[in-house]
Amino acid sequence: MEFMDLHIRESELQREIEEVFRQTLRTARYVGGPFVEEFEKEFARWVGVERAVSVGSGTQALKYCLWALGIGEGDEVITTPLTFVATAEVILLLGAKPVFVDVNPETFQMDENKIEAAITPRTRAVLPVHLFGAPAEMDPIMEIARVHGLRVVEDAAQAHGAVYKGKKVGSIGDCGAFSFYPTKNLSAMGEAGAVTTHSHEVADTVVLIKNHGQDRPYHSRFPGENGRMDAIQAGVLLKKLRYIDRWNRRRMEIAEVYRRELSPLVQVQRVGQNSTSVYHLFVILHPERDRIKEELAEEGVPARVYYPIPLHLQRAFSSLGYHRGDFPVAEEVSRKLLALPMGPWMDDEEVFRVVDGVKKVLKK
Ligand SMILES: Cc1ncc(COP(=O)(O)O)c(C=O)c1O
Repeated sequence: MEFMDLHIRESELQREIEEVFRQTLRTARYVGGPFVEEFEKEFARWVGVERAVSVGSGTQALKYCLWALGIGEGDEVITTPLTFVATAEVILLLGAKPVFVDVNPETFQMDENKIEAAITPRTRAVLPVHLFGAPAEMDPIMEIARVHGLRVVEDAAQAHGAVYKGKKVGSIGDCGAFSFYPTKNLSAMGEAGAVTTHSHEVADTVVLIKNHGQDRPYHSRFPGENGRMDAIQAGVLLKKLRYIDRWNRRRMEIAEVYRRELSPLVQVQRVGQNSTSVYHLFVILHPERDRIKEELAEEGVPARVYYPIPLHLQRAFSSLGYHRGDFPVAEEVSRKLLALPMGPWMDDEEVFRVVDGVKKVLKK
């Protein structure tokens, strides 16, 4: 069993992807073109937004959301320290300052009750992460943003299709950022990402940013970047978009079994009442995490540690002046968290092998 098996198993999908390659070879449209245009339309419809803008990675998607909303030098953006480095890195790279708030001990999401205390006259935005496929607590975040005049950028890199109160993530804030990195629920065969938004103004600005600020070839309005998506990635994503609901349902089924069998024995991530998780990862919390991981490996069950060092303790963010103990919940979660194998490629036999393995090592 692999922790994540990224082979294309569905033979029908494999044929569809081969057709994308053949068509790309035939047409020689390698960047932009019909696959990209169609994927943007279909993805926007699937997320439930006016616009989706394809970009080269999830990191670019996050950066361009903030950039298009005018966030830069001297601004502060409130976010979580328990996430992948890209979330806060892009804030710093735009000349703004990430301001961390601690996470909820049960959901591991940014603690909405801690946001207001972190607001200063420089705060411009809140950047929640829909962690491990589960939506962050969006209603209170949106309300705080409304009261204080802040923008909301959703990091939806891990949560394609997750739903909060009837809305898909990426359609709730001002902007959503998706990653299609190969390990993600909806994945390309390389690097890719997308920005989602209801605002044509934001979408149009992202289109300029990702294309050197050009509004037509060789006419640049401001310095931007090359952040475009390859046609092959868009073609692959377009084909996979037809399967994503089925794949997410399988993840939910597996999570249901894990939750039923394991939650009486060990702490598992709580998903909010109004939320549907798409279980990018299924995570447990245990004080002897490292022992559990090693013994699971001996049982043939690969498990992975996620975010062993919260961002406020990473060297990359040392200029912010945070110290150990500043965000005790995030620190504790990162010491105890272990992700179990999860993915639509798992059959029932594998799922129960994981369950039996975890039960066995927990008994010791
Ligand atoms: C929460 C989160 N944000 C941002 C990213 C960045 O996405 P990418 O690797 O596509 O740049 C990732 C994934 O790697 C992620 O998990």
